[in-house]
Amino acid sequence: MYNISINVYYTAVMQQRTLDLETIRSAARSELEHNWTGSYYAPHLEGAFPDEFFWDDCFIIMGLAEDNPRRAQELLMRMPDMQGPRGAFANQVVDTTRPSSWVERMNFRPGNSIDAPEEHVTSGISQPPMLAEATMAVVATADREDRQTILDRLVPSIISYHQWLFDTRDINGDGLVTQIHPYETGMDNTPPYENLVMDSRTRLQRGLTSGTMMTLFSPAIGTLRRDFKHADPSERMHNASIAQYQLLTRRLARYGYDMRQIERDWTIPLVEDVTYNSIFMRANRLLISLADMAGIRLPEKLEAQMIVQESGLQELWDPQRKAFFSRNARTRELLTTKTIGSLMPLYATFLPYQQREQLIDDLIDPTQFMTPFPVPSVPLRPAFDTKRRPLHDSRRYWSGPSWLWMNNLVGIGLRQNGEDETAEIIEDKALANYQTLMSEQQRGAFEYYHPITGEGLGVHPFSAAAATIIQFANKRLAKAV
Ligand code: GLC
Repeated sequence: MYNISINVYYTAVMQQRTLDLETIRSAARSELEHNWTGSYYAPHLEGAFPDEFFWDDCFIIMGLAEDNPRRAQELLMRMPDMQGPRGAFANQVVDTTRPSSWVERMNFRPGNSIDAPEEHVTSGISQPPMLAEATMAVVATADREDRQTILDRLVPSIISYHQWLFDTRDINGDGLVTQIHPYETGMDNTPPYENLVMDSRTRLQRGLTSGTMMTLFSPAIGTLRRDFKHADPSERMHNASIAQYQLLTRRLARYGYDMRQIERDWTIPLVEDVTYNSIFMRANRLLISLADMAGIRLPEKLEAQMIVQESGLQELWDPQRKAFFSRNARTRELLTTKTIGSLMPLYATFLPYQQREQLIDDLIDPTQFMTPFPVPSVPLRPAFDTKRRPLHDSRRYWSGPSWLWMNNLVGIGLRQNGEDETAEIIEDKALANYQTLMSEQQRGAFEYYHPITGEGLGVHPFSAAAATIIQFANKRLAKAV
């Protein structure tokens, strides 16, 4: 039907034949357990990410829903404890037993925010609303009694998170919610947002984050950066971007993360991210089903906001370039650099025919997203943006590598749009690569992977990657039965 090369199918079939799913699953289980703290899974226990992260939690819950339903339920049921009084969830919940946790406390200044939960020290920014998907996964495997208990606790929590998002973040009134910091998207240095942040620097900020300053302070920054202790600097964000993001965080903290004040400060770039909004759109659909199962009525206001959102997504479609993009929320201009986010509307909904075809064509194009180890966070082509800045970097964090949890979202999106076979190819490739890495180096669950060689990059073992492998393996095993 689609122009997928025979080669891609052939490799997939070969891989599937040689997958030892039981062994893969048990290896991934022990990699995940390595990061168990006693109450949650740290994304990476050894130090790069010892704290708790919102969407990592959700991906881990999704991975465990079928595999270890008790644990998945426990993790899910404690999520609302971390919620702020108006419904917000922070991207990061600080482990205050860590001796160095005062740094985060000082940095985030949660006391300034009316959205900070009482019992926890958190950042003041959010992350994509994956909680509805995680809840649905757990509900699907729970028995009747547990199901009601889960729904009674989670549905009101998700309602208030979604309501908070619409109420505080839909600044243009078109159903799209705005992000105030690149960390909110979960894809920290994905090029369109990173470039917008760097282009929006004030003269003073430019001075502080200039090449000269970075060279001067690079030894000091090198010792401060926890991630450098666990991964090569060529695989992490640039120092200048980290420094600018830090300046941005301080400014947000000064405003107490109050959207009205943030909006008035034109030096803060605001983005309607296509991934975030796609996730939010599907999350609302899931919420409707969850509320229905729970016998809980959704607030009328929220229902009305959901209807507006349905057409809002189309604002991110560029008919000339035939692609979805994130948008500068202040100027309403599309940020016309393709990333994996451009595929995410598949995850949001069942797309109109032409858009669906176009996105799938892009996905299966080997010069864009169908690399030997898909799906790269930034396509291989085009190589440069409109300002001749290089785009794809196969090793650097969110500038090119493939992330397994993103593959999971792409897979769900493909199935939702009737493309099950392509979803399976992507998942089998991830499983096969995991198996190879495991047999060659006894390490498989990496933070991200080189999209051309399959090499594991970033920190290891990484919880959400291990959980996603467990989920893919279980899906495959269920199919084999
Ligand atoms: C990085 C990732 C983000 C993740 C966090 C913890 O910030 O970009 O997506 O949630 O690490 O793993």
